[in-house]
Order: sequence, then C-alpha cells, then structure tokens
Amino acid sequence: MKQVNHRKLGKNILRLSLIILLAFSTSLSAQEGDPAKGKSLFNANCAACHKLDKKMTGPALRKVEQRLSDEQGLDREWIAAWIRNSAAVIKSGDAYANKIYDEYGGAAMTAMPQLTDEDISHILAYTAEDVPEPVVAQVTGGQDGSGSQEGGISNKMILGALAVLFALLAMALVLVRQTLNRFAEAKGVDISETKGTPIWKAFVQNQFLVLVTAIFLLLASGYFVYGYLMQVGVDQGYQPVQPIHYSHKIHAGDNGIDCKYCHSSARVSKTSGIPSLNVCMNCHKSIYEVAPETASAEYSKEFYDGEIKKLYAAVGWDDAEQKYTGETQPVKWVRIHNLPDFAYFNHSQHVSVAGIECQTCHGPVEEMEIMYQYAPLTMGWCINCHRETNVNVKDNAYYEKIHAELSKKYGVDQLTAAQMGGLECGKCHY
Ligand code: HEC
Ligand code: HEC
Ligand code: HEC
Ligand code: HEC
Ligand code: HEC
Ligand code: HEC
Repeated sequence: MKQVNHRKLGKNILRLSLIILLAFSTSLSAQEGDPAKGKSLFNANCAACHKLDKKMTGPALRKVEQRLSDEQGLDREWIAAWIRNSAAVIKSGDAYANKIYDEYGGAAMTAMPQLTDEDISHILAYTAEDVPEPVVAQVTGGQDGSGSQEGGISNKMILGALAVLFALLAMALVLVRQTLNRFAEAKGVDISETKGTPIWKAFVQNQFLVLVTAIFLLLASGYFVYGYLMQVGVDQGYQPVQPIHYSHKIHAGDNGIDCKYCHSSARVSKTSGIPSLNVCMNCHKSIYEVAPETASAEYSKEFYDGEIKKLYAAVGWDDAEQKYTGETQPVKWVRIHNLPDFAYFNHSQHVSVAGIECQTCHGPVEEMEIMYQYAPLTMGWCINCHRETNVNVKDNAYYEKIHAELSKKYGVDQLTAAQMGGLECGKCHY
C-alpha cells in the first residue's frame, strides 16, 4: 500500500510541476515573445531593409523598443501601429514619425497589417537580444595564389621524393661496401691496391662507359631544349594573383550565378569582357563582411578576409553610411587568356553560333577558387577542334544552304568546322 501511495505522490508532483512550467512559459511568451520565432519573422518581413547592428534602408533595430521608450517615450503600441502602417502614423502628424521619415529621405516602410500582436512581440524579443559573442574568424587559404592547383602533384614534391630516394640509395651503397670489406677481411683478401685508383680514373679508362654517358647527356639536353622551345608563348595553367580575391567557385559554383550575368558580351561579341564593378555591387550592397571584433550572428559572410572591403574601396562605397563617396580606385584585373595580335578569335561565333559550352575551352570554371588558363590556346588546339567538331546546322537557314552544297562536295552527312573553312589561314590570321 505504502508503495502505491508513494507512486501517486510522485505522479502528482510531476503533474504539478508540469502545469507550473507550462503556465510560466506561456505567460513568458505572451509578454516577452520568442526570439527564435522573432528571428524568422524578422528575416521574412524586415531584413530586406533593416539589420540589427547596421544602418541599411532603415535604422539599425537592436534594442529598438528600449531605445524608443528611453529617448522618445514611445511604447509598444506605437511601435505596433508603426509596423502595421507607418504611413498612417506619419499622416496623423506624429512628431517622431515625421522626424525619422524625413531623416531617411522619405523612404517608406511597407505596411504589414497582417502581423499580430504576438508576431510583433516575437520580433521585438529578437531585436532585444544582446550582441552574441564574436565568432572566431576562419580565413581560408589559397588567397595568395601561390598554391598549385588542387590535387595536382607539384614539382617540389617530385624533387623532394627524388632526393629522399637518392639518399636511401647512397646509404644502401655505403652499407654494401662496408659488408663487402668485412667479408674480404674475414677471408684474408688484400684490397688495399684497388682502393688506390680513384673512381674517375677508372671511369675515364673505360671508353665504352664514356661513350654511353656522352650519348645520354646529349639526348637528355636535346629533350629539355625541345620541350622548352615548345613552351614559348604557351601559358597553360597561368594563374596570376588578382587585385581582389574573386572566386569563381563561390559565385559560379556554390551560388550558381550564370557566366553570362557577368560576362554578358560573350554571346554577342568578339570578346567576353570582365564585368564592371557596378555589376558586383548589385549583390554586394547587401552581402558584406564585418570585422571579427564586431561580428554578430547576422553578418552575412562566413569568414572575414577584407576582400569585399577592397571592392568597396574601389567603387567608393561607404558601407556604414550606405552611400557612394565618389572616390573610386580602378581595379586592374590581370589578363589571363591572351592570344597574339595576329590571331583572330571570336566568342559569339563559338558560344552562340556553334553552341560550345564555356567549360569546353575554359575548363571547370565553377570549381576554380582562383582562375587559371585551362587550354593551351595554341594553333594546334584550335585546329584539332575544328577538325573534330561537327557544325550545328539545325534551324539555321544560312547554314542549311551551304551545308547542302558542301556536303555534296565532300560526300558526307555531317560537316566539321574544318570543312566549312575553319582551317583556312585567313579565317584566323589577319
Ligand atoms: C521596405 C523597407 C522596410 C521594411 C520591409 C521594414 N522597414 Fe522599418 N523602416 C524602414 C525605413 C525606411 C524606416 C525609417 C523611417 C521611414 O523612412 O519611414 C524604418 C523605421 C522603422 C522603425 C523605427 C526605428 C527608429 O529607430 O526610429 C521601426 C521600429 C521599424 N522600422 C521596424 C520594422 C520592422 C519590425 C519591420 C518588419 C516587420 C520593418 N521595419 C520592415 C524601412 C522598412
Ligand atoms: C559574379 C561575376 C562573374 C561570374 C558569374 C563569372 N565570372 Fe568569370 N570573371 C569574373 C571576374 C571579376 C574576372 C576577372 C578576375 C579573375 O580572373 O579571376 C573573371 C575572369 C574570367 C576568365 C579569365 C579572363 C582572363 O583574364 O583571361 C574566364 C575565362 C572566365 N571568367 C570565365 C567564366 C565562366 C566560364 C563563368 C561561368 C561558369 C564565369 N566566368 C562566371 C566575374 C565573373
Ligand atoms: C549575383 C550576386 C553576386 C554578384 C553579382 C557578385 N557577388 Fe561576390 N558574392 C556573392 C555571394 C552570394 C557571396 C558569398 C557570401 C558568403 O560566403 O556568405 C559572395 C562573396 C564574395 C567575396 C567574398 C569571398 C572571398 O573569397 O573573400 C568577394 C571578395 C566577392 N564576392 C567579390 C565579388 C566581385 C569582385 C564581384 C564582381 C565581379 C562580385 N563579387 C559579384 C554574390 C555576388
Ligand atoms: C572555343 C573556345 C572558347 C569558348 C567556348 C569560350 N571561350 Fe572564352 N576565351 C577563349 C579564347 C581563345 C580566349 C582568348 C581570346 C583573346 O585573347 O583574344 C578567351 C578569353 C576569354 C575571356 C577573357 C576576356 C576576353 O574576352 O578576351 C573571358 C572573360 C572568357 N573567355 C569568358 C568566356 C565565357 C564566359 C564563355 C562562355 C559563355 C567562354 N569564354 C567561351 C576561348 C573560348
Ligand atoms: C571546342 C572546339 C573549338 C575550339 C577549341 C576552337 N574552335 Fe573555332 N570553331 C569551332 C566550331 C564548331 C566552329 C564553327 C562555327 C559555325 O560557324 O557554326 C568554329 C568556327 C571558327 C571560325 C569561323 C570559321 C568560318 O568558317 O567562318 C574561326 C575564325 C574560329 N573558329 C577561330 C578559332 C580560333 C582562333 C581558335 C583557337 C584560339 C578556335 N577557333 C578554337 C570550334 C572550336
Ligand atoms: C583555327 C584558327 C587558325 C587557323 C585556321 C590557322 N591558324 Fe595559325 N595560329 C592560330 C593561333 C591561335 C596562333 C597563335 C598560337 C600561339 O600563340 O601559340 C597561330 C600561330 C601561327 C603562327 C606563329 C607561330 C606559332 O605557332 O606561334 C604562324 C606562322 C601561323 N599561325 C601560320 C598559319 C598558317 C600558314 C595557316 C594556314 C595554313 C594558319 N596559321 C591557320 C590560329 C590559326
């Protein structure tokens, strides 16, 4: 019996504490609001114009309720009315409403009558939170541009491996020699005479060895000279350090921005062009970075390395005041792909007419943290592709006529770019 009583008591205590907890938490949320819910409401309705710690289209909103009540004597009711329909509050002649409205150049807040009292208390609870502890900055490597391409084996590694191999070989030889000497001594063989002739003398006396070595040296140097000459003017893999660390991986890869958003002329003109910095500012007015000391949970970039600051300096954007200062500094991007002046290459011909993907010639750009030259850009490279690639004649009236004539001439169904005249010197050389 006693045990049953105990159990009942335990249950009752549990129930009681649950009720207390529930009551407590509901009363809490009715008054204080839930910062987590507030955050998502804020992001959905307010973040386009407001940040917590930074002036944007509208004022910074951290601790706005406290600030307005301390400085202006305005209560939550005023704030709720303002949020639901700020235009009405301004029209009513409210002094403070008119003051900030003028201060922000007459920029109007969207009316949001759908927000309930509860929603607004959630949002205000979120804005009332303290600034979170600074997040430790994590700077990713590879900004100096000196690193070799990912996954590749660098020359230094090969040289290092060779050095280790030679050291091991030398050690092995020394050991072999020592054991042989010991054997000789044990057997009582006298090796003192042979020790007397130095190796180079023995080598010079052996004419066959000299001949073989000479031939080998000649062949090796010929090979290297030929290789070197073939590399003149070929800049495959060229990867210069750019004035702003611009990552194709982040933009074209992770964020899926279309190549033509930035290189818009590739479709219609000879050149692709590098975008002007105004194109960057379409996004980077609102994608900025905050120094680690002042970083809070709302900053939009995961790490700080000052690269976006360089962009701001170049276009003359004052991020704190959210306006252009007019002091610009030109950014000199280092040109990577560059054909000699006597060769003619046209992007629209290849991108729009032939329908070739950028990646066919420029490689996996969307994976490049730092841009590099993927193709050799030699004459042989152009010619090979012209020999192999069939021309796309579908839905092209101009081509259909030529195609009909030329395919008769060559007796084939499909024409390659070469058969269209893609090997004629004059097409590529002025
Ligand atoms: C379309 C842009 C826009 C949106 C969206 C917006 N605001 Fe505003 N907000 C402003 C502007 C601009 C001001 C400055 C006064 C003015 O010009 O109307 C302002 C002022 C305020 C103020 C007065 C702050 C002060 O320091 O005096 C509060 C509070 C406020 N907004 C809250 C919110 C909340 C909460 C939301 C989301 C539910 C929101 N706003 C959504 C643009 C916006
Ligand atoms: C957000 C803008 C942007 C997008 C999107 C973009 N690029 Fe770029 N691209 C640049 C900038 C800025 C440079 C110059 C800096 C550099 O070389 O890294 C550049 C350089 C290049 C270069 C080298 C130019 C030279 O100097 O020879 C190539 C090739 C290139 N982009 C191809 C592409 C391809 C292919 C895509 C799509 C997969 C793409 N880009 C998407 C902005 C962009
Ligand atoms: C369509 C939108 C868009 C455009 C246009 C754009 N960016 Fe970005 N940029 C982003 C996004 C998104 C991120 C990633 C932010 C993050 O990591 O949280 C980013 C990140 C960056 C970073 C920080 C990454 C790093 O490596 O330090 C730099 C620098 C940068 N962009 C420079 C540029 C430059 C220069 C241009 C113009 C050639 C440009 N961006 C154009 C959207 C854009
Ligand atoms: C058939 C091969 C090929 C294709 C396809 C191609 N490119 Fe190029 N690209 C080149 C060559 C070759 C150069 C060097 C041109 C020069 O120096 O005159 C170049 C240069 C560039 C440059 C440097 C600036 C310039 O215009 O000279 C950019 C940027 C570029 N390409 C972007 C793109 C983009 C974006 C695409 C896809 C829309 C693309 N390319 C498709 C071969 C190609
Ligand atoms: C990936 C394959 C590819 C590469 C690489 C390539 N081309 Fe082409 N090119 C084509 C195709 C396909 C056509 C035919 C386009 C059409 O007219 O339909 C073409 C057409 C041309 C034409 C016009 C030919 C004509 O008959 O009017 C010229 C000029 C040209 N390419 C120059 C170059 C040069 C210069 C290079 C090297 C820097 C190059 N191409 C590299 C595929 C390529
Ligand atoms: C499909 C385009 C194309 C055609 C067709 C073409 N060339 Fe070239 N040629 C090039 C390019 C691109 C280069 C530059 C290669 C480099 O910078 O390494 C070049 C370079 C050269 C050079 C300089 C030497 C070198 O290799 O750098 C000579 C000479 C030359 N071409 C002669 C000719 C002759 C002769 C013809 C006709 C039989 C011809 N080319 C047809 C694209 C072409």
